[in-house]
Amino acid sequence: MTDERLIVALDFHTFDDVKNLVGALGDSVNFYKVGMELFYSVGAGVVEWLKAQDKKVFLDLKLHDIPNTVAGGLCSLMGLGADILNVHAAGGLTMMRTAADALTKEANLRGVARPKLIAITVLTSIGQAEWYGALSIAEQVVRFAKQAKDAGLDGVVASPQEAKLIREACGKDFLIVTPGIRPAGADINDQSRIATPRAALQNGATHLVIGRPIRAAKNPRKAALKILEEIDGL
Ligand code: C5P
Repeated sequence: MTDERLIVALDFHTFDDVKNLVGALGDSVNFYKVGMELFYSVGAGVVEWLKAQDKKVFLDLKLHDIPNTVAGGLCSLMGLGADILNVHAAGGLTMMRTAADALTKEANLRGVARPKLIAITVLTSIGQAEWYGALSIAEQVVRFAKQAKDAGLDGVVASPQEAKLIREACGKDFLIVTPGIRPAGADINDQSRIATPRAALQNGATHLVIGRPIRAAKNPRKAALKILEEIDGL
């Protein structure tokens, strides 16, 4: 079976690009992330297409609005069959709780499993220089993660740098989805809140979101297999 800890980001704006990459990766990858670039250009059909290929989907639309609006939006998205949906933790504890409750109720009404709901903590692109909070980034990430757990969410999206603290604070079953991953040996330039797949998992991440290192590879399947080999046994 494929290693479902690897989620490949489909940051494209055409359906053809999606079909080419998913075809090229074949059975090496079973989990894909659909973000705003793809969703806004191609539409909801891409999620349904991925599900029809028996793939898992993390629909990364990062909802952030008042509780009632986010809850309604998530219930609409649920019909597409995505396995993971998300909201911004910055929307507040009440928003997260309302969203989780509404999603549970809607799933029960439809007789389907509730998709996992996770919260964005602090965007991994934000470094110390542009950080605006009163707490440190790490403290704020853990605070958001605990709020997400209290609100009934299944996990968070966070930088691999903060995964360890989240794991300690939120227990073993909490999902920690980490973007900002670069394969071992890659040129990591000066960004600090990124890590290798191994380091992210060793820090407690449950899923790795990887885009450009696989999409830009001459042989994407080979690149994916190399990452899977790197994390095998962890
Ligand atoms: O950089 P890469 O192409 O691997 O990014 C894959 C996904 O991870 C993107 O869709 C983006 O949402 C997310 N990302 C992130 N923080 C970063 C880099 C990427 O959240 N520092």
